[in-house]
Amino acid sequence: MTTYITTPIYYVNALPHLGHAYTTIVTDTYSRFRRLCGDDVRFQTGTDEHGEKIAQAAAAEGVLPKEYVDWVSNAFKEAWPPLDVEPDHFIRTTNPEHINTVQKILQKVYDQGDIYFSEYSGLYCQGCERFLTEKELVEGNCPDHLKPPQEIAEQNYFFKMGKYQEWLIDHINNNPEFITPERYRNEVLSFLSEPLEDLCISRPTSRLTWGIPLPFDDKFVTYVWFDALINYLTGIGYPDGPDFERYWSSSEHVIAKDILKPHAIFWPTMLKAMGTEPYKRLHVHGYWNVDETKMSKSIGNVVRPGELVEQYGVDTVRYFVLREMSFGLDASFSSEALVDRQNSDLANDLGNLFSRSLTMIGNYADSTVPELYKGLLNDIDRELINAVEHMVKEYRQDMNGFRFNRALQQVWKVIGLLNRYIVTNEPWELAKNPDHKKRLMTVLYVLAEALRIVALVLQPVIPQAAAKMVTALGLDSGQETVDLDTAGKWGVLKPGTKITKGPQLFPRLDKKKNNKQQKQPRPEKKKSNEKIQDDGLVGFDKFQKLELRVAEIVAAEKIKKSDRLLKLTVKAPEERTIVAGIASFYEPDDLIGKLVLIVANLKPAKLMGVTSHGMVLAAKETDADGKERLVLSTVSGSVAPGSKVS
Ligand code: MSP
Repeated sequence: MTTYITTPIYYVNALPHLGHAYTTIVTDTYSRFRRLCGDDVRFQTGTDEHGEKIAQAAAAEGVLPKEYVDWVSNAFKEAWPPLDVEPDHFIRTTNPEHINTVQKILQKVYDQGDIYFSEYSGLYCQGCERFLTEKELVEGNCPDHLKPPQEIAEQNYFFKMGKYQEWLIDHINNNPEFITPERYRNEVLSFLSEPLEDLCISRPTSRLTWGIPLPFDDKFVTYVWFDALINYLTGIGYPDGPDFERYWSSSEHVIAKDILKPHAIFWPTMLKAMGTEPYKRLHVHGYWNVDETKMSKSIGNVVRPGELVEQYGVDTVRYFVLREMSFGLDASFSSEALVDRQNSDLANDLGNLFSRSLTMIGNYADSTVPELYKGLLNDIDRELINAVEHMVKEYRQDMNGFRFNRALQQVWKVIGLLNRYIVTNEPWELAKNPDHKKRLMTVLYVLAEALRIVALVLQPVIPQAAAKMVTALGLDSGQETVDLDTAGKWGVLKPGTKITKGPQLFPRLDKKKNNKQQKQPRPEKKKSNEKIQDDGLVGFDKFQKLELRVAEIVAAEKIKKSDRLLKLTVKAPEERTIVAGIASFYEPDDLIGKLVLIVANLKPAKLMGVTSHGMVLAAKETDADGKERLVLSTVSGSVAPGSKVS
């Protein structure tokens, strides 16, 4: 089997940050996983270097665009090795082969009549580099850039995207895995329920010269998205290179929700027009915030992956982002959460288990994998072995479905069982009595073999620690370490293999020291003219300031150490976290999909370590015994999330 997996090609108007790193780590992890499954894998990343944004960034730096893009593209290229990200190919849209192929494709689509010249006026967002529809605006602003788009009228070339609308709807309906997670597939289908407009694919050179000239009209350059999406083909030698033949039918793209529309709508229709089959799967993830706040240069909270690696080590960073984010939903980065994961999951659960087990094999079995005495296996052993085999099965499905956090939960369940296995079997007690020698050896074999499998499945996520585990277990890189089919089975480790006693995988971190560098959000200034109204009545002007909205609950979970609080992720229409004191009245799973009313412009407040951005309205009912019950205010009928309540 082959796998072709790509990241977006990143704009070179900013340096790599945590968001770019996440997508790239996910893609690297998936490509390592597919290799573990025996696939022939091609992993591509790169940089998107044309367009207005880039031309402006270069001008702001006072250098020529080419000089500027060379510099930032290189910064991206150099950002990946420290993260143990190993792409097979790094593509740049300023490569001559790419430019050449884009022009050939444009000419072909033009010749077949799918590109026409016309006058257009519309609402253009410079940040998105595309025209927005009225429906996309939130209070007149672009929802991503929070600025009103400009009204622009000009003559341009258009791609007949609307012509392929029905085909695209059918394709999405017939291929449930085409766009996942499902919420994004639904978002695309809902967008496609309205007529699809044609796509403006040119910019006049009077306005922009930094782009690929249209082959049929040199007074225009190509719209950056039409140019950029084609990278996925040029990087593998489209149309007649051997790698194109070999990899395209297994292509999978990883992106975040910000660029869903170009990937789910522009790109498949472009491919259809070119006569090339659509990509196989599109994986869409959510956004990383920092300390529950949007990551932005102006706030000064941008997280740089290189700095994280220096401070915490590459495996910790990779593990943290994959474990912390539920693929598809937003997540929040904090160095406190990262240190917690390092200390509890990596240093304590995994690290201690490993060094303890290998120290015992060192002390009680002469640093050699001991014999397993089948006749001495009891129910606890068999249960554990079943759990390990079950974990491999679940892990495989979860990794394949991009549910990385769930895959890791499965592995850590086994790590927990192994820690308990040691406590239950007390090898140190068995060691005191020579009659129990065989049982002791059996227990140690079970531990070593389970750890071999744990190391195997962790290879794609924490390659360095997994390699340390493999080496300590006396394995070289033979079949027992590189192939999930053979090595994912129980009983591969050979008695007699020499092991290394107790290496440490992860140090424990000092929480205080490591949180020092954490940036504190700026305190909000108090307005001196805020007066408290004392008559108990609120004027209409004050009431008007209250922003009530309809919100859809898209995720819900209990907050640790609190019986009362639930952490809700709601869409209104942007995603935000709201903490609600309703845990005693609602099961998290029952809340998904509910439309509720929220106060959207409440000052953020931290509750049990989670910052709440708003409040869900609920009715408070008191029964005859004085007991209170909260009932959520829901909306009957279908209303778009984000609609205002007045
Ligand atoms: N150049 C286009 C993509 C063209 S692909 C044919 C582009 N570039 S970008 O530099 O803006 O990168 C966007 C991507 O970076 C997101 O889709 C996501 O993969 C990653 N991220 C950037 N910020 C992010 C977060 N805050 N959180 C998670 N990932 C985000 O769009």
